[in-house]
Amino acid sequence: MKILVIGNGGREHAVARKLMQSPLAEKVFIAPGNAGTALVGENVDIKVDEFEKIAEFAKKEEIGLVFVGPENPLVEGIVDFLQEKGINAFGPSKKAAAIEGSKLFTRDLLKKYGIPSAEYAAFDNAEKAKQYLQEKEAPVVVKADGLAAGKGVVVAETIEEAEKAIDEMMTDKRFGEAGSKIVLEEKLLGEEASYLVFTDGKNIKPMVSSQDHKRIFDNDKGPNTGGMGAYSPAPIVTKEMEQRILKEIMQPTVDAMAKEGREFKGILYAGLMISKTGPKIVEFNCRFGDPETQVILPRLDSDLISIMQACIEGNLAEQEVKWSQKAYCCIIMASGGYPGKYEKGKEITGLEKDSKITETIVFHAGTKADNGKVVTNGGRVLGITASGNTIKESIDNAYKAVEKISFEGMQFRKDIGQKALNRKG
Ligand code: AMP
Ligand code: GLY
Repeated sequence: MKILVIGNGGREHAVARKLMQSPLAEKVFIAPGNAGTALVGENVDIKVDEFEKIAEFAKKEEIGLVFVGPENPLVEGIVDFLQEKGINAFGPSKKAAAIEGSKLFTRDLLKKYGIPSAEYAAFDNAEKAKQYLQEKEAPVVVKADGLAAGKGVVVAETIEEAEKAIDEMMTDKRFGEAGSKIVLEEKLLGEEASYLVFTDGKNIKPMVSSQDHKRIFDNDKGPNTGGMGAYSPAPIVTKEMEQRILKEIMQPTVDAMAKEGREFKGILYAGLMISKTGPKIVEFNCRFGDPETQVILPRLDSDLISIMQACIEGNLAEQEVKWSQKAYCCIIMASGGYPGKYEKGKEITGLEKDSKITETIVFHAGTKADNGKVVTNGGRVLGITASGNTIKESIDNAYKAVEKISFEGMQFRKDIGQKALNRKG
């Protein structure tokens, strides 16, 4: 079968690589891809929002399965668009992707079905939102309703900070229409973890737990990023906690979406706060996480194409989904200045040496091939991923590999996985 992967990040590199390990895979195309995906398959010069071109290409190449990585095309309805044209596409419909596309929709859904989450209030008017704040105590979380590339959330420690965030979102329209409605919510306390499942709209099959590192600097300091590293498993998600997550959050949410006429097929990603009283929802995403995918998929011992097909066809219950016991750690190497302004086009050296290190996979994100060299082409550049028999071993192996690679201005966190080690030790 020929496969088309939509996207250009480390997540898509990890997905393309895993799909190609399937005996069912003949060839993978990646649109638009990066210098790393070009080593797994063939890059195609089509952007993720060019739905017509994607459909044309899929027809011409007789693509058997389209996988969509990023949230924007999913929320815009790419899966419905392709399926209406008779193209086999994996992922949620537009109606189902609202679980990530609208924070307000999701808050209302969770409240209606009694799924544990934060207390909240919604506003479409800045003055009313500020009035409401007068009766509240800080901290308070201010969220733009729509998609804002992970930047539409401010955890305000004072009321003044919250007011400023409201003004930026609603009055200055920093995120355009995404901020025309906002949600003010209670700050949840605890430790965050990511928990993803495959679902066919009724049945779920769990993935292994993981933890992301959202802030740019060590010890969770500085501004939020797309994610600076991840590891799997996350020891905070004990066997008992996992059962609670599945029973109190994942299955009820899949059932709730079906009841609402928004059957969710694909990957449901829960950003969780593991609080003293149990797991609570911080956010849902309608797709694989980045960089969580880079530590989850290498642990998958079953066939990814068969799993995706079972989700589409509605027979996931009979599908085997097995995971290895190995631990994985992924360290993101980013451009200097990220998540603010950064330069592109810096030559990356040491990649070849690295590929010979066993137990290590170099996932590319913002990279580009340029006259036989590989140069930087984005904020998050590489995801250096390594395995080990323990989390500690995987972290040590990943940092050893990081040492061999360099480019001008590079930055990476030195404390990826530290929370897991602190917990155990
Ligand atoms: P989101 O874009 O919804 O994932 O939010 C980004 C980050 O903001 C999350 O990973 C959390 O660290 C933080 N956050 C969002 N909502 C809350 C909340 N209600 N309580 C505490 N932290 C939150
Ligand atoms: N790692 C966070 C995300 O994919 O949204």
